[in-house]
Amino acid sequence: YGAAGTQKERTFIAIKPDGVNRGLIADIIARFEKKGFKLVGLKLVHPTEDFAAEHYDDLKARPFFPALVKYFASGPVVAMVWEGKDVILTGRKLIGATNPADAAVGTIRGDYCIIMGRNIIHGSDGADSAKHEISLWFKENEIADWESAVHKWTY
Ligand code: TYD
Repeated sequence: YGAAGTQKERTFIAIKPDGVNRGLIADIIARFEKKGFKLVGLKLVHPTEDFAAEHYDDLKARPFFPALVKYFASGPVVAMVWEGKDVILTGRKLIGATNPADAAVGTIRGDYCIIMGRNIIHGSDGADSAKHEISLWFKENEIADWESAVHKWTY
Protein backbone atom coordinates (compact mmCIF):
# COMPACT_ATOMS: atom_id res chain seq x y z
CA TYR A 1 0.00 0.00 0.00
CA GLY A 2 1.00 3.61 -0.42
CA ALA A 3 3.33 2.74 -3.31
CA ALA A 4 4.63 5.84 -5.09
CA GLY A 5 3.63 6.10 -8.75
CA THR A 6 0.46 4.02 -8.38
CA GLN A 7 -3.17 4.98 -7.74
CA LYS A 8 -2.48 3.88 -4.15
CA GLU A 9 0.20 6.52 -3.53
CA ARG A 10 -0.37 8.24 -0.18
CA THR A 11 0.64 11.53 1.38
CA PHE A 12 0.30 13.15 4.79
CA ILE A 13 -1.54 16.48 4.83
CA ALA A 14 -2.15 18.58 7.96
CA ILE A 15 -4.26 21.70 8.38
CA LYS A 16 -2.24 23.72 10.91
CA PRO A 17 -3.80 25.49 13.94
CA ASP A 18 -4.28 28.78 12.04
CA GLY A 19 -6.18 26.98 9.28
CA VAL A 20 -8.41 25.28 11.86
CA ASN A 21 -9.04 28.49 13.82
CA ARG A 22 -9.82 30.44 10.67
CA GLY A 23 -12.51 27.99 9.58
CA LEU A 24 -10.69 26.69 6.50
CA ILE A 25 -11.06 22.94 7.17
CA ALA A 26 -14.01 22.32 4.85
CA ASP A 27 -12.55 24.37 2.00
CA ILE A 28 -9.18 22.63 2.13
CA ILE A 29 -10.74 19.15 2.27
CA ALA A 30 -13.03 20.10 -0.62
CA ARG A 31 -10.07 21.03 -2.82
CA PHE A 32 -8.45 17.60 -2.36
CA GLU A 33 -11.80 15.81 -2.81
CA LYS A 34 -12.77 17.73 -5.94
CA LYS A 35 -9.36 17.06 -7.48
CA GLY A 36 -10.25 13.37 -7.29
CA PHE A 37 -8.07 12.23 -4.40
CA LYS A 38 -9.41 9.80 -1.81
CA LEU A 39 -9.41 10.50 1.92
CA VAL A 40 -8.14 7.41 3.76
CA GLY A 41 -7.21 8.90 7.16
CA LEU A 42 -8.63 11.83 9.17
CA LYS A 43 -8.41 13.07 12.77
CA LEU A 44 -8.26 16.23 14.86
CA VAL A 45 -5.21 16.27 17.14
CA HIS A 46 -3.73 18.91 19.43
CA PRO A 47 0.00 18.10 19.14
CA THR A 48 2.32 18.56 22.11
CA GLU A 49 5.49 20.60 21.52
CA ASP A 50 7.50 17.36 21.73
CA PHE A 51 5.37 15.78 19.01
CA ALA A 52 5.58 18.93 16.86
CA ALA A 53 9.38 18.84 17.25
CA GLU A 54 9.40 15.19 16.14
CA HIS A 55 7.25 16.00 13.12
CA TYR A 56 9.66 18.77 12.09
CA ASP A 57 12.80 16.91 13.22
CA ASP A 58 14.61 17.54 9.90
CA LEU A 59 14.40 21.32 10.55
CA LYS A 60 15.70 21.31 14.14
CA ALA A 61 18.95 23.15 13.24
CA ARG A 62 17.08 26.03 11.56
CA PRO A 63 16.68 29.38 13.36
CA PHE A 64 12.89 29.39 12.92
CA PHE A 65 12.50 25.91 14.50
CA PRO A 66 11.44 27.00 18.05
CA ALA A 67 8.77 29.38 16.70
CA LEU A 68 7.61 26.73 14.21
CA VAL A 69 7.16 24.15 16.98
CA LYS A 70 5.24 26.59 19.21
CA TYR A 71 2.94 27.55 16.33
CA PHE A 72 2.31 23.96 15.29
CA ALA A 73 1.48 22.97 18.88
CA SER A 74 -0.66 26.08 19.52
CA GLY A 75 -4.01 24.39 18.79
CA PRO A 76 -5.69 21.49 17.07
CA VAL A 77 -4.44 20.24 13.72
CA VAL A 78 -6.46 18.25 11.16
CA ALA A 79 -4.24 15.29 10.27
CA MET A 80 -5.08 13.49 7.04
CA VAL A 81 -3.87 10.82 4.68
CA TRP A 82 -4.86 11.29 1.03
CA GLU A 83 -4.49 8.66 -1.69
CA GLY A 84 -4.24 8.79 -5.48
CA LYS A 85 -1.92 8.86 -8.47
CA ASP A 86 0.90 11.38 -7.93
CA VAL A 87 -0.82 12.67 -4.76
CA ILE A 88 2.48 13.64 -3.10
CA LEU A 89 3.62 16.04 -5.84
CA THR A 90 0.13 17.15 -6.87
CA GLY A 91 -0.76 17.75 -3.21
CA ARG A 92 2.23 20.10 -2.98
CA LYS A 93 0.95 21.90 -6.10
CA LEU A 94 -2.52 22.33 -4.57
CA ILE A 95 -0.85 23.71 -1.42
CA GLY A 96 1.50 26.15 -3.18
CA ALA A 97 4.92 27.56 -2.28
CA THR A 98 6.17 27.52 1.33
CA ASN A 99 6.20 31.33 1.45
CA PRO A 100 2.61 32.50 0.79
CA ALA A 101 4.04 35.64 -0.83
CA ASP A 102 5.42 33.37 -3.58
CA ALA A 103 2.43 31.00 -3.74
CA ALA A 104 0.39 31.28 -6.94
CA VAL A 105 -3.17 32.55 -6.69
CA GLY A 106 -5.43 29.50 -6.93
CA THR A 107 -3.27 27.46 -4.54
CA ILE A 108 -4.31 27.04 -0.91
CA ARG A 109 -1.48 29.18 0.46
CA GLY A 110 -1.80 31.63 -2.44
CA ASP A 111 -5.47 32.17 -1.67
CA TYR A 112 -5.65 32.10 2.11
CA CYS A 113 -2.49 33.29 3.87
CA ILE A 114 0.19 35.93 3.91
CA ILE A 115 3.32 34.97 5.85
CA MET A 116 5.53 31.87 6.11
CA GLY A 117 5.02 31.52 9.86
CA ARG A 118 1.22 31.21 9.37
CA ASN A 119 0.95 29.22 6.17
CA ILE A 120 -2.05 27.08 7.29
CA ILE A 121 -1.17 23.69 5.78
CA HIS A 122 1.51 21.01 5.64
CA GLY A 123 2.09 18.38 2.95
CA SER A 124 4.76 15.68 2.68
CA ASP A 125 7.50 16.67 0.24
CA GLY A 126 8.45 13.22 -1.08
CA ALA A 127 7.86 9.47 -0.89
CA ASP A 128 10.18 8.97 2.10
CA SER A 129 8.72 11.81 4.17
CA ALA A 130 5.16 10.70 3.28
CA LYS A 131 5.86 7.20 4.57
CA HIS A 132 7.57 8.54 7.70
CA GLU A 133 4.88 11.13 8.50
CA ILE A 134 1.94 8.75 7.91
CA SER A 135 3.45 6.24 10.35
CA LEU A 136 4.23 9.00 12.86
CA TRP A 137 0.64 10.33 12.89
CA PHE A 138 -1.50 7.26 12.16
CA LYS A 139 -1.77 3.70 13.42
CA GLU A 140 -2.39 1.13 10.73
CA ASN A 141 -5.99 0.57 11.90
CA GLU A 142 -6.71 4.31 11.60
CA ILE A 143 -6.30 4.18 7.82
CA ALA A 144 -9.26 2.98 5.74
CA ASP A 145 -8.44 1.09 2.56
CA TRP A 146 -11.78 1.63 0.82
CA GLU A 147 -12.89 1.51 -2.81
CA SER A 148 -14.55 4.61 -4.22
CA ALA A 149 -17.71 3.91 -6.24
CA VAL A 150 -16.74 6.63 -8.74
CA HIS A 151 -13.15 5.44 -9.15
CA LYS A 152 -13.66 4.55 -12.83
CA TRP A 153 -14.69 8.15 -13.57
CA THR A 154 -11.47 9.52 -12.06
CA TYR A 155 -9.02 7.14 -13.73
P1 TYD B 1 9.57 23.46 4.92
O1 TYD B 1 9.51 21.99 5.19
O2 TYD B 1 10.82 24.00 4.31
O3 TYD B 1 8.35 23.94 3.97
P2 TYD B 1 6.97 23.22 3.55
O4 TYD B 1 6.00 23.34 4.70
O5 TYD B 1 6.48 23.98 2.35
O6 TYD B 1 7.31 21.79 3.23
O7 TYD B 1 9.32 24.26 6.27
C1 TYD B 1 8.35 23.84 7.20
C2 TYD B 1 7.60 25.04 7.70
O8 TYD B 1 8.49 25.88 8.42
C3 TYD B 1 7.02 25.92 6.62
O9 TYD B 1 5.75 25.46 6.18
C4 TYD B 1 6.94 27.25 7.29
C5 TYD B 1 8.08 27.24 8.28
N1 TYD B 1 9.22 28.05 7.81
C6 TYD B 1 9.46 29.27 8.40
O10 TYD B 1 8.74 29.70 9.31
N2 TYD B 1 10.53 30.01 7.96
C7 TYD B 1 11.35 29.59 6.96
O11 TYD B 1 12.32 30.30 6.60
C8 TYD B 1 11.08 28.32 6.35
C9 TYD B 1 11.95 27.79 5.23
C10 TYD B 1 10.01 27.58 6.81
